[in-house]
Amino acid sequence: MGIGDLLRFDGKRVLVTGGSSGMGEATVGLLNEQGAEVHVLDVKAPAQDVASFHEIDLREIDLVDAAVDVIGGPLDVVVNCAGVAPVFGKLDVLLINFCAARHLTDRVIDRYMPDGGVVGSIASVAGRGWRDNLPALCELIGAPDYSSAAAWCEAHPDALDNAYGWSKQALIVYSMLRAVELKERHIRLNTLSPGATATPLMPDFVRGVGQAVFDSVGEIAGRSSQAVEQARPLVFLLSDAASYVNGANLDVDGGFLADLATRER
Ligand SMILES: NC(=O)c1ccc[n+]([C@@H]2O[C@H](COP(=O)([O-])OP(=O)(O)OC[C@H]3O[C@@H](n4cnc5c(N)ncnc54)[C@H](O)[C@@H]3O)[C@@H](O)[C@H]2O)c1
Repeated sequence: MGIGDLLRFDGKRVLVTGGSSGMGEATVGLLNEQGAEVHVLDVKAPAQDVASFHEIDLREIDLVDAAVDVIGGPLDVVVNCAGVAPVFGKLDVLLINFCAARHLTDRVIDRYMPDGGVVGSIASVAGRGWRDNLPALCELIGAPDYSSAAAWCEAHPDALDNAYGWSKQALIVYSMLRAVELKERHIRLNTLSPGATATPLMPDFVRGVGQAVFDSVGEIAGRSSQAVEQARPLVFLLSDAASYVNGANLDVDGGFLADLATRER
């Protein structure tokens, strides 16, 4: 089978959160082109055609559960694109970017995902410090449900202080842990960590971290990425072309982290 065939999603049912804007919208566009049946969960409606749209705030966990039940199985692929920038309330950043994404993913895996299914989540280069916080992150990830994960976040000032970074670190480590736990079912989980990307969220990032920090992330490439430049590698991770890629975090940052890692030589 050629690589073009491996990148097809014909007959696959896919759930995308945050599929109405930015990288999620670009991902939905590519998945549609590649033959997938795409279902979107977002607070605003998508501009492009999808199999179903569910207007839901991810923090409304009961509504998320109900929407997932309505979409039903089999759900071959889950894509967590929904996210908010550091200008949001700290607890809300952790709830939307991590706690709700984990809840939805686990619900689909437990009830609707066949063996061999795939999960892809958009983390961030802001999650690169996960090794420093691994024991605490494992505690958060080990919280048995959404409300206990929320309570853990409320009780941990370190996590609240850098809510965006912690939310992305937690997503990266969660994907790694689940990739290992689910090996018998051959379910693959990976994360994509974008650098600076031109989406409607960008002004919020600039306000949250400051123009100088934001610009430094795009410095090596000389520009920010376009949403589709993130969606293409994400769709690769979701596809059969990435059949041996599991528990990985793919930095798509135009060389930002390579520069950081080698600068001190
Ligand atoms: N833009 C960047 O520079 C950048 C860099 C690294 C990582 N990211 C991450 O990429 C992901 C996609 O962001 P984007 O830049 O495409 O932004 P975006 O704002 O264009 O897209 C985010 C989508 O998530 C949806 N969403 C937000 N909160 C929600 C909620 N509570 N419930 C349901 N849907 C919700 C929004 O309506 C929107 O459609 C996010 O997880 C973000 O943290 C962005």
